[in-house]
Amino acid sequence: MDEYVSKGEGTLSYAESDLERILLSKEEINARVTELAEQISTDYADYESLYIIGILKGAFIFLSDLARKITVPHKVDFMALSSYGASTESSGEVRIIMDLRQPIVGEHVLIVEDIIDTGKTLHYLQRLLKGRKPATLKTCVLVTKERNSLDVATDYLGFKIPNVWVVGYGLDYADTYRTLPYIAELKKEVYQSG
Ligand code: IMP
Ligand code: MG
Repeated sequence: MDEYVSKGEGTLSYAESDLERILLSKEEINARVTELAEQISTDYADYESLYIIGILKGAFIFLSDLARKITVPHKVDFMALSSYGASTESSGEVRIIMDLRQPIVGEHVLIVEDIIDTGKTLHYLQRLLKGRKPATLKTCVLVTKERNSLDVATDYLGFKIPNVWVVGYGLDYADTYRTLPYIAELKKEVYQSG
């Protein structure tokens, strides 16, 4: 991690020793989020409104950066889903922890999600929201692991990464590390010891 510290990435001492390596730097993420926002703004330029749905907790930082760069009118709402608990293995069973505040009938909906691992969460969510009859439904995901076993389709995708557990930029392990400014691989001993 030393090379990042010397580049002035900021103080992250509490987490540094738990990280294997940085996969996506703050600068890389910022540049890609800007590109995604530009693409979305272009694609939705002729729509009257855009209904952005952020998936909590993981997507909260990605969504706040992305949405502030989107130049077409939009609303923001959130849903909270859970399929992992405090583990790094998907239980396969997705639960709604918090639902949307409003119906999405006739809306142009854009799901904003942090990461695809097995794809179960997004697969479930896309089916659920399609059933609520939005005018259109698209998906924007910051990171997908190579695995994506369910081959879930995304309309906007930031990065593809190997099948390792990552933290930072909203992503957690056991609810920690979410506010690191970059996305880093967590050392295996950190999540395999518990
Ligand atoms: P999936 O259902 O297996 O695709 O997992 C997707 C959900 O699990 C995401 O919404 C994340 O919240 C969480 N998740 C999957 N992989 C990671 C990871 O490497 N770090 C942090 N969270 C992850
Ligand atoms: Mg998530």
